Amino acid sequence: MKVLITGVAGFIGFSVAQRILRMGFSVLGIDNLDPYYSTSTKQSRIQSLFKFKSFQFLPISIFDISNSIPSHFRPDLIIHLAALPGIAHSLAHPGSCLQTNTVGTVSVLEFARVRKVSKILFSSSSSVYGNSNLPFSESDSTIIPLSPYAVSKKSAEMLMSNYHHLYGINILIFRLFSVYGPESRPDLVIQKFFNQIHTGKPCLIYGDGNLERDFTFIDDVIDGLMKGIHYLESNSSQRILEIFNIGSGKSVPINKILEILKSGLKRNFEVRYLEKREEDARITLADISKAYKFLEYSPKVEIEEGISRLIDYHKYIEL
Ligand SMILES: NC(=O)c1ccc[n+]([C@@H]2O[C@H](COP(=O)([O-])OP(=O)(O)OC[C@H]3O[C@@H](n4cnc5c(N)ncnc54)[C@H](O)[C@@H]3O)[C@@H](O)[C@H]2O)c1
Repeated sequence: MKVLITGVAGFIGFSVAQRILRMGFSVLGIDNLDPYYSTSTKQSRIQSLFKFKSFQFLPISIFDISNSIPSHFRPDLIIHLAALPGIAHSLAHPGSCLQTNTVGTVSVLEFARVRKVSKILFSSSSSVYGNSNLPFSESDSTIIPLSPYAVSKKSAEMLMSNYHHLYGINILIFRLFSVYGPESRPDLVIQKFFNQIHTGKPCLIYGDGNLERDFTFIDDVIDGLMKGIHYLESNSSQRILEIFNIGSGKSVPINKILEILKSGLKRNFEVRYLEKREEDARITLADISKAYKFLEYSPKVEIEEGISRLIDYHKYIEL
């Protein structure tokens, strides 16, 4: 199987590419190495993927996907992960967020249409739910987004649905919930705290620390993505457009994350509470029963175990 991964130099793109390559499939990854965070981190991920013979990489933007990928290349599956993530960042840069995440998604869909790609797996976000009733279910209304990022993901979901309707492309939309683990993005809360503690800075919390998040360990997310690929493969004769929550199914207060970090790192640190932000949902919590029913998705890593693995990973890479 030939898989095209957009955003392959990112946290999730890198992790899923590793898993797919280990399974013996070939991967063409693209990424424009956007400077939202360290481009050298992204470059070193790409370097480490080159140890797999069936990995190819093009340093291009999704906007150039049709012009820059040789015309004979037709993947069996596209995993579309490229995006400008970050809720706070989207408030500062709403135009570029929508441009990349929504208009950029049109480029990927057009590529799929013209090259007759029959399957797409798209990473959406729990942020589309805003402050909906708990737990968040795929059938909930998602009409009150709290940030431009949430708007960009919801719009991209609608484009996915439109291309499925018009051109019959089979599509799975995965709404991911606060992914964490080795190679995490530095702006994501657990990694941010970890880095702040590591550099002797106070941990900054927006609000009183009672916001809750459904944190999902990266390995569970990758398991979910693999189950999604299997589902698309084994139902290819049918028309498929499905949305799945990929979360842990449990929500944890931010203050609890600090406690777990304190006991795992065996050190004290300063915590500073800042004003609450309007763009942050109060609680995120995934109803994962649909993903279990269709995909047998069943996350395994509890938050204490996931943070302990993150701490071990950092000990290992600092050796
Ligand atoms: N990490 C999470 O908790 C989380 C939660 C919900 C949804 N998601 C979604 O999952 C996907 C991956 O997230 P991530 O955490 O790995 O983020 P990431 O920033 O680590 O990865 C995204 C990658 O996309 C690349 N990119 C940005 N603009 C591009 C463009 N125009 N052309 C090509 N590449 C481009 C970036 O350089 C980056 O390497 C994103 O779509 C994100 O919105 C992530």
